[in-house]
Amino acid sequence: MKGDVIYLEYNRFMLAPDFTAVDFRSPANLRNPHPFLADLREHAPLIRLPFPEQGGVPWLLTRYEDALWLHKDERITKDYLKRPGVDVSDPNDIQAMAAMSINRHVLTVDPPDHTRLRSLVHKAFTPRMIRELDGRIRQITTGLLDAALPKGHMDLISEFAIPLPVTVIADMLGVPMSDQDNFRRWTTVIVSEGIRNSGSEAAATAVLEFIMYFNWLFDQRREAPGDDLISGLLAVEEAGDKLSQQELISMVFLLLVAGYETTVNLIGNGTLSLLQHPAELAKLRSNPALMPSAIEEMLRYNGPVGLSTIRWAMEDIEMHGQRIDAGDMVAASYLSANRDPAVFENPDTFDITRDPNPHIAFGFGIHYCLGAPLARLEGSIALGSLLDRAPNLELAVETDTLDWHPMMTLHGMKAMPVSV
Ligand code: HEM
Repeated sequence: MKGDVIYLEYNRFMLAPDFTAVDFRSPANLRNPHPFLADLREHAPLIRLPFPEQGGVPWLLTRYEDALWLHKDERITKDYLKRPGVDVSDPNDIQAMAAMSINRHVLTVDPPDHTRLRSLVHKAFTPRMIRELDGRIRQITTGLLDAALPKGHMDLISEFAIPLPVTVIADMLGVPMSDQDNFRRWTTVIVSEGIRNSGSEAAATAVLEFIMYFNWLFDQRREAPGDDLISGLLAVEEAGDKLSQQELISMVFLLLVAGYETTVNLIGNGTLSLLQHPAELAKLRSNPALMPSAIEEMLRYNGPVGLSTIRWAMEDIEMHGQRIDAGDMVAASYLSANRDPAVFENPDTFDITRDPNPHIAFGFGIHYCLGAPLARLEGSIALGSLLDRAPNLELAVETDTLDWHPMMTLHGMKAMPVSV
């Protein structure tokens, strides 16, 4: 598919009548969006996505330099309430309501609110806490592999990549073992249903049960603090400032949405990249000390997050011969930026020793991923143990039959059958 003509027409007419011709979500583009993104990067670095998402039609940036720009320009906001034209009293504006309640956290606000929230949360999210999770992550990984390996085959996603991060987040928050089955059930429904189908009744019920549960857990931890993140978040205080109950719940939600499926996709996509490049896999098996740089390359080459979260232009902005109007939504493609030949030599080569590797899979600037150290740790332990204990690991199906999630925000497979 060489689509220059379509993109050019599309750019000229903005929402061209034939925009459906650019099928962003065709199975082939979901499976391997890279040729298509390379085409956009070269011929149409700023286009409007041909589908309405979150109440508007977003602009998409595909070049590395433009992605950095989007993450730092002061005419761009992350705060929906600052979007020109927003009427917070409009009962039909669900996004405004969400922005004033459950969805008000570090990732949806600008400074100074962001600075305040991030520094409070950062105090609880310490390197020590992450280091202490090391042993627990190893224990969970061992348990999952003990259960799956003797069968000789497994679905790497549902039997390994999903249960690991969800259990780690539950542990980190201090959800008691006896409640973890409920936690996993709510989380799976909220993250999978909620993101894909925001009107879903199952998601709404799960959200409600989740909020009630956490309000109860906050009370428990206020009375008897532990060494978990919730107790830490309740205790953090800076110059007399504390997180409100609503900020606490929003933060717990954010940790789930930001830290769960992203890590699932790092384990899934990362394993796939290794299996598709046997020489690199052999190099890593023979020299496990390469794991940290291999993880960085997995994040760059076929990262877990396709697009940045949405931002809004606060004024008209001219770019690449077009005008982003005040109030328009804008996002950047991390998958594309991380393969930009202007920054990465041989960007389509998977090289686990790549150095330097300035990928932006964890974002850039003030919203840079707070969970990056944890994600790197989980990825290294998961991949390291898997390679160690499954010396004959192989994909059990053809690569082009793998089913990918039909979303551009997150980039990952629904299932990944492997033999071990
Ligand atoms: C491989 C796994 C992960 C990837 C690829 C990833 C990626 C990202 C990206 C790209 C952003 C910035 C989004 C933007 O600016 O639009 C972000 C922000 C964030 N991530 Fe992660 N993430 C991962 C894992 C985690 C984990 C495990 C946690 C915590 C449990 C976490 C917590 C956060 C938080 C709190 C933010 C918001 C920071 C802020 O706004 O200041 N992430 N992440």
